Amino acid sequence: MIIRSARITDAKEIHRLIEHYANKREMLHRSLNAIFESIQEFIVIKTSNKNNNIIGCGALHISWEDLAEIRSLAIVEKYQKIGFGRKLVAKLQNKAKKLDIKRIFTLTFKPQFFIKLGYNIIVKEALPHKIWSECVNCYLFPDCGEVSLLKII
Ligand SMILES: CC(C)(COP(=O)(O)OP(=O)(O)OC[C@H]1O[C@@H](n2cnc3c(N)ncnc32)[C@H](O)[C@@H]1OP(=O)(O)O)[C@@H](O)C(=O)NCCC(=O)NCCS
Repeated sequence: MIIRSARITDAKEIHRLIEHYANKREMLHRSLNAIFESIQEFIVIKTSNKNNNIIGCGALHISWEDLAEIRSLAIVEKYQKIGFGRKLVAKLQNKAKKLDIKRIFTLTFKPQFFIKLGYNIIVKEALPHKIWSECVNCYLFPDCGEVSLLKII
């Protein structure tokens, strides 16, 4: 199992994984184009078997001075609950640390997972207005049901 930065050749597999959960309303949809454009934000976990499939992905998106977002975090079902989600979040937090970013937030339908990793629920209004304007453009606005969480690292 390896964790590494995503490559452009991973984009379609990342897209398939996110779509799988978006269709179950566990994540928001992301277009393949959006994934190509933000491929440098992504990390992936891959198996070391012959097919070298992606078993998880996640992205760190810089939002503002001293603030970044963990987004598009997903682990293939059969590899869940064995610590890969935690590993990806730790790696994304390290990425933020290297950039001197100390505040990480996430918008998620799975708040309990992030609470386990030290994140605290906040009101969305505590986030910069810029993030709100992105929400306004979302197809699920205003009733997406996502919970906002923040961690100081
Ligand atoms: C949420 C998700 C990324 C978690 O990944 P994972 O690899 O299963 O998580 P881990 O095994 O690293 O779990 C870390 C801890 O969180 C807990 N946990 C995992 N998923 C949880 C959930 N849905 N609710 C509550 N706790 C959860 C684990 O039990 C573990 O706790 P422990 O240390 O006390 O044993 C994964 O379930 C997933 O891909 N879900 C579908 C997509 C999704 O909902 N993404 C959410 C972000 S938008």
